[in-house]
Amino acid sequence: MNDVVLTGDRPTGPLHLGHYFGSLANRVELQGRYPMYVLIADYQVITDRDTPGEIRRNTTELLLDYLAVGIDPARATIFKHSAIPELNQLLLPFLSLVSVSELRRNPTVKDEIAHSSQQAVSGLMFTYPVHQAADILFCKGTLVPVGKDQLPHVEVTRLVARRFNERYGEVFPLPEAMMGEQPLLKGLDGGKMSKSRGNAIALSATEDETAALIRKARTDFDRHITFDEQGRPEVANLLTLAGLCLGRPPRELAEEIGDGGAATLKRVTTEAVNEFLRPIRKRRAELGEDEVRQVLAEGNERARERAVRTLEEVQGAMGF
Ligand code: TRP
Repeated sequence: MNDVVLTGDRPTGPLHLGHYFGSLANRVELQGRYPMYVLIADYQVITDRDTPGEIRRNTTELLLDYLAVGIDPARATIFKHSAIPELNQLLLPFLSLVSVSELRRNPTVKDEIAHSSQQAVSGLMFTYPVHQAADILFCKGTLVPVGKDQLPHVEVTRLVARRFNERYGEVFPLPEAMMGEQPLLKGLDGGKMSKSRGNAIALSATEDETAALIRKARTDFDRHITFDEQGRPEVANLLTLAGLCLGRPPRELAEEIGDGGAATLKRVTTEAVNEFLRPIRKRRAELGEDEVRQVLAEGNERARERAVRTLEEVQGAMGF
């Protein structure tokens, strides 16, 4: 079978190093091996907030992050939800294939409801996983590189594909989630790395901003630096970060730093991160606005052609 990769992000803010080592690096690697679609999931932004916010700016910034890290628009189709009406049209027949109780059971949806700042839970909150099935199935995606929180959505997608095929004939392949074995990078305060917690290094941050963030990072009182993930999670996290950027084992770095203490650890980490991000930041600065707009326009067009074909096939199979 010919595999097709589909993945994406909500445009809610700048991507950070956690995204880079967790998924972006993997995408850059995959784009040489498979046809790949990268979705800017702009409609999904309004699932857990009332308005899309600075959607245009966030979309542009996300695109800049993609291009800066080396996602190549000649090989990957980068597109956004709101430019592909046919993708939305798939939502309707797909919704008829799942039950209300199945929608209610989705653990990721439950979790998002628990953490949502919305006044009331919208219908979209329960139905967006089916919209995400349309994201994956419109291009007959078979491989979906995602984090663990997205597994329930890939399950919904498989359910939709299987039931569609049973009712109307073989149209869709059953996609599979691709889980990387990336090291889990925590935020600089030891919690989950997240832009909203102010503990993440954005790919677009300046060298000074990066230095300031790392200076504030939590460590502990033991002057002798060791790599102990259980006992010294904050120190271990900085070592992991520096190690990823340098392509070296964190344990080896710890031995070198030794009695240099937290100050040396932070200096080494800051230099490693800034060195690593330098070419990415340089590429970002070189990208012109017109170029970025052009990339998205072309990606949208390609994705749309694909969606038109799938929608025709779906309507044909259903006998419309
Ligand atoms: N839900 C994903 C997130 O919050 C974004 C996303 C939307 C996605 N559609 C997708 C991911 C399809 C993979 C496949 O990060």
